[in-house]
Amino acid sequence: MSKQPLLQKLKIGEIELNNRVVMAPMTRSRAANPDKVPFDIHVEYYRQRASAGLIIAEGSQISTKAVGYINTPGIYSKVQVEGWKAVTKAVHEEGGKIFLQLWHVGRMSHPDFHNGELPHAPSAINPYSKSFTPSGFKETVTPKEMSLDEIKQTILDYKNAAKNAMEAGFDGVEIHSSNGYLLHQFFSRTSNIRMDEYGGSKENRAKILFEVIDAIKEVMPEEKIGLRLNPSLHNIFGMTLDEETIPTFDYIIEKLNDYNLAYLHLSEPFNDVSDVPHAVEKIAHRYRPMYKGVLIINANFDQEKGNQYILEGLADAVAYGKLFISNPDLVERFEQDAPLAEWDDATFYTPGEKGYTDYPKLKKAKA
Ligand SMILES: Cc1cc2nc3c(=O)[nH]c(=O)nc-3n(C[C@H](O)[C@H](O)[C@H](O)COP(=O)(O)O)c2cc1C
Repeated sequence: MSKQPLLQKLKIGEIELNNRVVMAPMTRSRAANPDKVPFDIHVEYYRQRASAGLIIAEGSQISTKAVGYINTPGIYSKVQVEGWKAVTKAVHEEGGKIFLQLWHVGRMSHPDFHNGELPHAPSAINPYSKSFTPSGFKETVTPKEMSLDEIKQTILDYKNAAKNAMEAGFDGVEIHSSNGYLLHQFFSRTSNIRMDEYGGSKENRAKILFEVIDAIKEVMPEEKIGLRLNPSLHNIFGMTLDEETIPTFDYIIEKLNDYNLAYLHLSEPFNDVSDVPHAVEKIAHRYRPMYKGVLIINANFDQEKGNQYILEGLADAVAYGKLFISNPDLVERFEQDAPLAEWDDATFYTPGEKGYTDYPKLKKAKA
């Protein structure tokens, strides 16, 4: 009997995924402890979702400077590595695979996270957005333009974080170069007006990304490195599209063909960009033919659309975000064409188990 495309196996590098239903990386702000260490509830949350073909665990800051949201876990210290070890062990015991998303928010932060010092960014341009601080949402500020030494240090921080992720037992890492955070800030002319080798041309604006990949390659195999891009992000997290946007992402994605990465993870536009100049409306349609490796597609997919995209060759796998929050057994539900539970966005970022580990699986839901 032929299976739904979403339920077919997929090889990424040396790893075989049991299916093509990927859990998208999602910040849940549950590491409510001074050292920002994942603990028991993280273990339980990810264990519950281990039937995903691949879990991409939440954005985890690569250094103290990389943070911009309350209670997000890190991957720069020994205790954090120990915390993550219990998570990867649990997922592996259930037969799952798990990558960790490496995160630096850049200017999407606030001095409250940095002992009053300014967040780092490619250029001193305020995103005019909000940062989720320990004392609530605060307006972002004008960040500090990173010096060349600070850029070098940040690249080393990515490398160290990747090394830590390997030590913690992850099957790979995903570089978070998406959603208006640090690396995405380098790509865009609206956030990067540098005059040095990291600004100006599209090659210069993308340079840091390739330096990060090259640095991480020194500590782990290329085929365990994934990467996320959101080319049509507009009017969200301080990003706006301009006439350089499409040529820049075309350049990046074509150049990624020089590498043998685990995958490229792309998001379709988060909002309606049909009237926005310089926007790619259909990301998979444009970039599937351009990118030669494994392509994961995301944003607002349901079961039917996911199956359709794989069947049509527009993507190899589909990442589901919010559906995985409320359906820990999303794969089993797809297998059975079962109804899906609704998520409650009031508990996306609240501490504790509520709205985190208490969404029931199908059998219990029926009972
Ligand atoms: C609560 C929440 C937290 C998120 N955190 C992250 C994150 O840490 N890293 C990231 O790349 N995207 C993050 N996203 C975006 C999701 O990965 C995904 O792109 C988005 O939810 C759209 O997919 P969906 O329609 O399947 O939910 C987050 C989304 C949500 C709802």
